[in-house]
Amino acid sequence: MFSILQGTLLAALLPAAVLCAPQKRAAAAPTEPFELYAYGTKIGGMPMFFNKGLAFAGNPSKTADNDSYVEQVSFVTGDDDSWVASPVNKTAEWSGSTLFIPSKVSNDTRIGFLPPSNGGNSSIDTTGFSFYGNTVLRIEDDGTMDMLFTALVIDSETIQLYWNDTSSGQVPVTLRSVAPTSPPPSVPATPLQPATTTSPQRRS
Ligand SMILES: *[C@@H]1O[C@H](CO)[C@@H](O)[C@H](O)[C@H]1NC(C)=O
Ligand SMILES: *[C@@H]1O[C@H](CO)[C@@H](O)[C@H](O)[C@H]1NC(C)=O
Ligand SMILES: *[C@@H]1O[C@H](CO)[C@@H](O)[C@H](O)[C@H]1NC(C)=O
Ligand SMILES: *[C@@H]1O[C@H](CO)[C@@H](O)[C@H](O)[C@H]1NC(C)=O
Ligand SMILES: *[C@@H]1O[C@H](CO)[C@@H](O)[C@H](O)[C@H]1NC(C)=O
Repeated sequence: MFSILQGTLLAALLPAAVLCAPQKRAAAAPTEPFELYAYGTKIGGMPMFFNKGLAFAGNPSKTADNDSYVEQVSFVTGDDDSWVASPVNKTAEWSGSTLFIPSKVSNDTRIGFLPPSNGGNSSIDTTGFSFYGNTVLRIEDDGTMDMLFTALVIDSETIQLYWNDTSSGQVPVTLRSVAPTSPPPSVPATPLQPATTTSPQRRS
């Protein structure tokens, strides 16, 4: 079912010419640094933020785990189309972390940030991020383009980002580099079980 949705989204968003030439880098990537915003049904462009090594979107200051390291993320492109993160308007110990999605062999589907001094592991993929226009895609090693971001609604101002997983009630979202023109409407507060945020250890 999810792959049908994925196909529909891709077909709706990408002209045939792009689908026929998946290796081609999408043009018109935003200028750097850029921020990312999550859009979906009733999710009107929530800014991505860093919280204990994991990717959320919404209002960072309303997060229960409210510390100075919880901050909206700004990106620049690094090696192999990795996206190197730092807090907007600040530095923090997680500056230089790279965005990751779970690899196909991982059963942890949360999206997060690999600390700068960490070489990574087979459970995560940190390369191949790209844009079509302002919309984020991932280009796999074989050239397949995927756009499988989903979000778990945690409260009216916070969602947690996942990859290729709707099993806990996550809803599809797209990530874009453009901010909403008006303040994002809050997500209706459905009392969902918050995802466990047992965090990876902070490494310095
Ligand atoms: C989080 O921190 C911000 C800024 O210091 C503060 O305004 C806000 O009230 C805090 N929120 C919580 C839930 O502690
Ligand atoms: C970052 O700084 C710019 C310019 O001062 C400001 O407009 C923007 O609101 C700031 N963003 C955050 C997330 O603090
Ligand atoms: C997404 O999940 C499905 C079902 O688990 C799997 O077959 C597929 O390979 C996954 N796709 C990616 C790009 O990880
Ligand atoms: C992933 O699977 C392994 C082996 O089945 C298990 O030990 C581990 O707890 C699982 N991790 C998560 C996050 O579900
Ligand atoms: C892989 O790295 C990520 C990010 O640091 C971490 O959350 C995850 O636990 C690591 N997985 C393994 C199997 O080491």
